[in-house]
Amino acid sequence: MQCVLVARREDRLRDLAQELESAHGIRCEIVPADLSQPHAGRELLAEVARRGIAVELLVNNAGFGLVASVEKTDVGRALELIQVNVAGLTELTLVAAKEMVQRGHGGIINIGSIASFQPVGYMGAYAASKAYVLHFSEALWAELRSHGVTVTTLCPGTTRTEFFDRSGVPGWAERNRGEDVQSVVRTGLKAFDAGRPYVVSGWTNYLLSLAVRLATRATVVKWSMSVFRAHD
Ligand SMILES: NC(=O)c1ccc[n+]([C@@H]2O[C@H](COP(=O)([O-])OP(=O)(O)OC[C@H]3O[C@@H](n4cnc5c(N)ncnc54)[C@H](OP(=O)(O)O)[C@@H]3O)[C@@H](O)[C@H]2O)c1
Repeated sequence: MQCVLVARREDRLRDLAQELESAHGIRCEIVPADLSQPHAGRELLAEVARRGIAVELLVNNAGFGLVASVEKTDVGRALELIQVNVAGLTELTLVAAKEMVQRGHGGIINIGSIASFQPVGYMGAYAASKAYVLHFSEALWAELRSHGVTVTTLCPGTTRTEFFDRSGVPGWAERNRGEDVQSVVRTGLKAFDAGRPYVVSGWTNYLLSLAVRLATRATVVKWSMSVFRAHD
């Protein structure tokens, strides 16, 4: 098995590649890339093809959040978020999916969020970007399953990574008993293997994703706004 790792920080990629190679006996390639750049997705897949690798499973994990009131929002950062979380993911998904359809097999795991299910005040652009990921990916799940291609959206709740530290609310995941990464990844892979269109990681998160369907949209967004209000 061969694995291609992509992110901006090359030192991190190199360390992770070595760790995976020695722990699992697989080959790991690294491709440093900034997915906030227009057409970075197409260039990345072209580079992977140049290395003679056909993408059998694409995991669109790269993404970031932004927690701030409208007054304090950095507009450039919000647009960068759309580029990485929405445009970049769309480009990678569509280009890779076309090749998979031609081959008659393949899979894509896109990372949504518990925020995919409702708007979130003080986190508007991020939550909307993740709603897009879920809707877009579910549409492709329906369209591509008869072509031998599975598209699964993994929707985690708060998870202990660097995400909140980089989103403007440092320490949030630790204070809110975030899930550990391994259990989120296991949930995602199990759902993908079962051919499911989406999965929410964690029972409480799953119940929350259903509960928002029972209230009015105004009630839901007023409630969700209270989550991050104090952090602005
Ligand atoms: N942690 C949570 O609570 C949580 C909850 C729901 C959903 N999610 C989603 O889970 C996914 C993974 O996030 P995480 O929690 O693991 O956060 P993280 O620790 O901040 O990791 C984000 C990853 O994305 C990469 N990345 C960010 N911007 C990039 C860019 N412009 N180009 C290329 N790579 C980029 C980062 O690498 P570099 O910085 O080196 O580029 C890093 O590997 C994201 O899509 C996030 O929205 C997270």
